[in-house]
Amino acid sequence: MRRRDFFKLGAGTTAAMLLSQCSRDVPGGDTSVTTSAPVQFQKVVSSNGLLSLDLEAKPQQVQLGDINANLLTYNGKVPGPLLEASPGDRVQIRFTNGLSQPTNIHYHGLHISPDVDNVFLGISPGEQHTYEFQIPDDHPAGTFWYHPHKHGLVAEQLFAGLAGLFIVRGELDEIPEIKTAQESFVVLKDFALDRSGNIADTGHMAAMTGRAGGLLTASGQINPEMPIRRGGLARLRLLNASPSRFYRLSLEDHPMHLIATDGGAIASPVELSDVVLAPGERVEVLVQGNQVAGNYRLINQPFNPAQGGMMGGMMGGNQSSDRSETVATLVYERETDDEETQEASLPSELITITPLPEPSETRQFALNHGMGGMMGGGMVFLINGKGFDPSRIDTQVKLDAVEDWEITNTGSMAHPFHIHTNKFQIISQNGQSAPYAAWKDVVSVSPGETVRIRMAFRDYTGKTVYHCHVLDHEDRGMMGILEIQQA
Ligand code: C2O
Ligand code: CU
Ligand code: CU
Repeated sequence: MRRRDFFKLGAGTTAAMLLSQCSRDVPGGDTSVTTSAPVQFQKVVSSNGLLSLDLEAKPQQVQLGDINANLLTYNGKVPGPLLEASPGDRVQIRFTNGLSQPTNIHYHGLHISPDVDNVFLGISPGEQHTYEFQIPDDHPAGTFWYHPHKHGLVAEQLFAGLAGLFIVRGELDEIPEIKTAQESFVVLKDFALDRSGNIADTGHMAAMTGRAGGLLTASGQINPEMPIRRGGLARLRLLNASPSRFYRLSLEDHPMHLIATDGGAIASPVELSDVVLAPGERVEVLVQGNQVAGNYRLINQPFNPAQGGMMGGMMGGNQSSDRSETVATLVYERETDDEETQEASLPSELITITPLPEPSETRQFALNHGMGGMMGGGMVFLINGKGFDPSRIDTQVKLDAVEDWEITNTGSMAHPFHIHTNKFQIISQNGQSAPYAAWKDVVSVSPGETVRIRMAFRDYTGKTVYHCHVLDHEDRGMMGILEIQQA
């Protein structure tokens, strides 16, 4: 039952009455878990071709369920304001660093110049920086996001709450069935808090598998409601904004119909019974409201990403979950009349994905870890045996070249491989070709696995990065510099 209904009940209400009320109100699905009202985002939408805002990263006390948590926020919110723009729009973000550490902003998944989306930039405490760019006219619609990217501090700042959605509206949003769908934005983020509500030390294992916490939130709420009408469609936009936790999600009694991945729409919906999200990944799914009206849980299922590969790893640790937990709940809206509702149909076609031409070059990348320095340097994470060096260029490519990158995990933990500036298509995973074409910017590589991705380096020259999106791994060296040169 809903929390707000609970408070409407009188003082004499007994547990038995509550139970009968619950079972009457909730004919389908879950009857025991408290949900919170649908999330109200602070939205900033572009108008007349301009998305303009002031954005400040600052410490702020935020309510997480029953806890007053001392977090790091954008404009006092967790997640930060939801930004929404369209292809061709200009973006102007006047950013202030109100933290006690240097930071910067990365626009994860946006195809914009690395000179602007510059992870080498350090904005000192108290300083300001204006991010100005244009979303290309041909930019796909999709679910993108922004978060700090100052090497060495990324995991810490993201874990403390700094992340927000950046939605690009476009062609996908114009498909009639999708237009009518009720949209929910689900930003999955775990927290570890101590008794005073401060970010807790996640222990020595965090150095290995990345920091994680036991408090799972969806868009800053504990188990928020996602509305759906009987006979209607819900569109769920799911983002894994956790620095190291993987999610395997399923929705009670409702298959999910995948319509978009990291880089935008796929060609036609693909039915899934569950969906795995590595850190940094996004999906959009449609859900049909064709069950008995009620509440249905979106459940994070037990999952160990380290066991996904052929060899199977032992190092699940903080990355894995060993119990089921509800992260959000699909809630049917009360029917206003008893008119026969129609079955909402799914769109049959979405957006065509043009396969990339044959590559002119194939490169190999091996992901692994080792012990750093002799003076108790701890674990280091490496790409092709090297830790990140800001003064070294690891890979040079030519503008407009098409390349295949073969990424092999020779270690014992899962590593979600991510690249900035351009998106890619997965060609094969352990020699098996991808089941459907999709645009991606993160792909998880389990121990023993080899993944082959194909990309074209379009529109922008300059220095950018690729890295593991388990951000403790990135902060401990698992990042390389890519230079895109004029052909
Ligand atoms: Cu979401 Cu380089 O990051
Ligand atoms: Cu990114
Ligand atoms: Cu990693």
